[in-house]
Amino acid sequence: MGERPSISSSLRDATAVAHERAERSDFIGDLMAGRLDAEAYRTLAAQLYFVYRALEEVGDDLHAADGARAVVAPIFDERLRRLPRLAADLDALGVDISTVEPLPAVARYVEAIDATRNDPARYVAHHYTRYLGDLSGGQVIKSRMISHYGIDKDSLTFYAFDGIDKLKRYKDGYRDALDGLPIDDDAHRRLVDEAIRAFEYNEALFAELAA
Ligand code: HEM
Repeated sequence: MGERPSISSSLRDATAVAHERAERSDFIGDLMAGRLDAEAYRTLAAQLYFVYRALEEVGDDLHAADGARAVVAPIFDERLRRLPRLAADLDALGVDISTVEPLPAVARYVEAIDATRNDPARYVAHHYTRYLGDLSGGQVIKSRMISHYGIDKDSLTFYAFDGIDKLKRYKDGYRDALDGLPIDDDAHRRLVDEAIRAFEYNEALFAELAA
């Protein structure tokens, strides 16, 4: 009888292949290599607005709900909140979000996030996929957007986490929090399955952005 893998390690293992695919997708590959332009980044940021609006609305609701708070509280952190940053960045980038429609892949992504309202373990999958990504690859994206496209760092505050000074230490703490979530084996499985889907929603967005 071996030890069951921790939540953080099963998440990382289950999403490793999808992570590599996302990183190597045409859109992300081209964006990171400097083959696109500032407009491509603006389009990505505008689409992410809808994703974070759903992510943070549902997160707030779960955090305020008696039955769900215990599951989301260990990873819930105001310092992660991105929507105000994204709104300010879009403003600075000259994007009027009220004129932007979510792409079909984003509409499906938002629907999936909304559908976790009744299952906080599955919500955690979306939280993990986006925020740990922003704290990791997001930092590389930020520096490439500055160097390739001359985007002002004041328009990239989405990637700046005030109050979190050591990202590596923060991510380690986040994984410890995941490992301590008060959920049973079945919820653990649902969380991991949902994380795989969360990566797929991101891949689908990149595919639509490349088209
Ligand atoms: C520009 C492309 C990307 C690069 C260069 C990149 C890079 C990285 C790196 C270096 C790590 C390891 C960080 C660490 O363990 O401290 C990481 C982790 C992670 N990335 Fe990405 N990434 C990219 C795209 C994405 C995308 C598109 C997503 C999903 C939307 C994503 C989600 C994650 C997650 C969830 C982790 C945490 C893995 C774990 O430790 O459990 N990344 N990324």
